Amino acid sequence: MKRKAVRILLVTVMAIAAMGCGNTSVNDTGTDDDAIVGNDNTENAATEEENSVENIDVADMTDKKVGICIYQFSDNFMTLFYNELENYLLSRGFKKENIIIVDGENDQTTQTGQIDRLISEDVDVLIVNLVNPSSAKAITDKAVTAEIPLVYINREPDADEEQRWEENDWDVTYVGCDARQSGIYQGELIVDLGMDNVDLNDNGKVDYIMVKGDLESIDTQYRSEYSLKALTDAGIEVNCLYEEVGNWQQNQAQQIVADALEQYGTDIEVVFCNNDAMALGAMQAIQAAERTVGEDIYLVGIDALSEAIENVMLGNMTGTVFNDYISQSRSTVDAAINYLTGKENEHYIACDYLKVTQDNVQDFLDMLN
Ligand code: GAL
Repeated sequence: MKRKAVRILLVTVMAIAAMGCGNTSVNDTGTDDDAIVGNDNTENAATEEENSVENIDVADMTDKKVGICIYQFSDNFMTLFYNELENYLLSRGFKKENIIIVDGENDQTTQTGQIDRLISEDVDVLIVNLVNPSSAKAITDKAVTAEIPLVYINREPDADEEQRWEENDWDVTYVGCDARQSGIYQGELIVDLGMDNVDLNDNGKVDYIMVKGDLESIDTQYRSEYSLKALTDAGIEVNCLYEEVGNWQQNQAQQIVADALEQYGTDIEVVFCNNDAMALGAMQAIQAAERTVGEDIYLVGIDALSEAIENVMLGNMTGTVFNDYISQSRSTVDAAINYLTGKENEHYIACDYLKVTQDNVQDFLDMLN
């Protein structure tokens, strides 16, 4: 399937090496295994994508209705994402009363009902962050039948589904980042510390625990796999002590890491969390156990939430990876405007992650505040 990954610096075929305490079984999804994108600086964050709309200033969006379905409002990262979506829609001439944002409450039946309602209310375009990416086919069929363009975000449908959009030339696309890249960057944050620092018990291995997102999301599988792959590719042996699903939530991760620390104590050298909300929970558990990040344990997350960036700055987290919600929101709105003005989009619109380390954390503080 043809994909346009803007700013591709590194294109590599990588076999998925399943590692860890046990594999999270998630079906392969739409991220092609030949499209890992790489980019290491902050300059490209939130810049206009190649896909961005042309002549947007002349298109009148004042009467266009947008339906935005978020899988759950209580997800910190998605809150940043939909706030940015709304701001950018407003800046592009949409009216606030024509932007409808609904909370799927992590329940596909609820979300499907919301989509039915938005369609019956004649929205002009739908932006959907699916609860269950496996429900994409049914949702796409509804939008196509109603002739409403559809932009999926964040929780990626599988490759077969994306293939249908292309084959049928439907006004349906996905905007997101390649989760494998975030995993690799997260692993590299640990690799770059050097085994002399990380291998605290001198057993020649990195002894870790993994706190995972929800199992419906491909981000969970790829981040868990590729963070470890970055280590093994660098010739570092890994040893999983504990892994558990924390559903992207801070409180769940706090409990998981507290349990793991109680069970494995100082054997734990690295805590990998699939996102920052869970890394912040892990940080609380680490502090409660009187362990010190950067001295006797290492902790990495993904997203670059403000609180996580501040804690990287303070040394309470080893590092994180910026999940560029600004660029993703803008690409989403630009794609929606393209459809609304009779233009086409690629069926996959990519963006890059960026590493956040002690060395560049100030840049992110400046950029995001
Ligand atoms: C990820 C993000 C997580 C969570 C998840 C929901 O991209 O890193 O924090 O928001 O999406 O699908």
